[in-house]
Amino acid sequence: MKLFKKKKKIDMNNIPSHIAFIMDGNGRWAKKRGLPRSMGHREGAFALKRVCEACREYNVKTITVYALSTENLNRSDKEVNFIFEQAMEFVNSELKESIANDLKINIIGNLDHERLPKDVREACIRAMEETKDCKSYVLNIAFLYGGRDEIIHAVNKIIKEKRESITEEEFENYLYTAGQCDPDLIVRASGEQRISNFLLWQLAYSEFYFSSTLWPDFNKKTIEESILAYQSRKRNFGVVEE
Ligand code: FPP
Repeated sequence: MKLFKKKKKIDMNNIPSHIAFIMDGNGRWAKKRGLPRSMGHREGAFALKRVCEACREYNVKTITVYALSTENLNRSDKEVNFIFEQAMEFVNSELKESIANDLKINIIGNLDHERLPKDVREACIRAMEETKDCKSYVLNIAFLYGGRDEIIHAVNKIIKEKRESITEEEFENYLYTAGQCDPDLIVRASGEQRISNFLLWQLAYSEFYFSSTLWPDFNKKTIEESILAYQSRKRNFGVVEE
């Protein structure tokens, strides 16, 4: 007799409101195919479109993706410039659909960075401006982003205001993610298990899921696996049941 393993079903009443993705493995994906690293990033941009769509289907309200870290700027000019171009192409090509889906595009990171080309910066600002009134979904693109850099940026703003003390809730208003809920789930692609300076403040109570799938291969199935992993966890936020 053949035994079939029962496929777990996603509980639509326990969908994470916010999933953050570390889009890792683009370079390895390309290398495995004998292609230049840039082709991995290009496929990574296609994967991002699939992920946005799958998350919307499951009614995940906010997603945050790590597109370029402050540390990634130390890669070759050729690679960094290619990622800049991919980002510009992504926000330009997604703009119409984002408005149609009521999705706000929010770039978090240092858009005043000297390395950022003017046309890429303008495209990012335009995407944010044109989707600012969208309310159903949010896509945060962490771009020229570093978690420590974000905290220092917040602290410097606070110093300028000459505040004497601050609460956690007030501090959050100085972060790039002001007004948003923290990620319920952080998903890292490619099997690596580290946080790489991503959302250091916001992940205090997030669940982690490390997928062995390389980012360019991410699709609806990988999103379902991630949500199922999340649903198998018991979150107690430091409190124990009596
Ligand atoms: C990490 O993989 C990936 C990046 C540093 C870039 C991510 C960029 C994209 C997915 C392109 C789309 C971006 C936007 C904003 C649309 P890696 O290169 O470190 O991979 P490796 O560890 O296998 O070398």
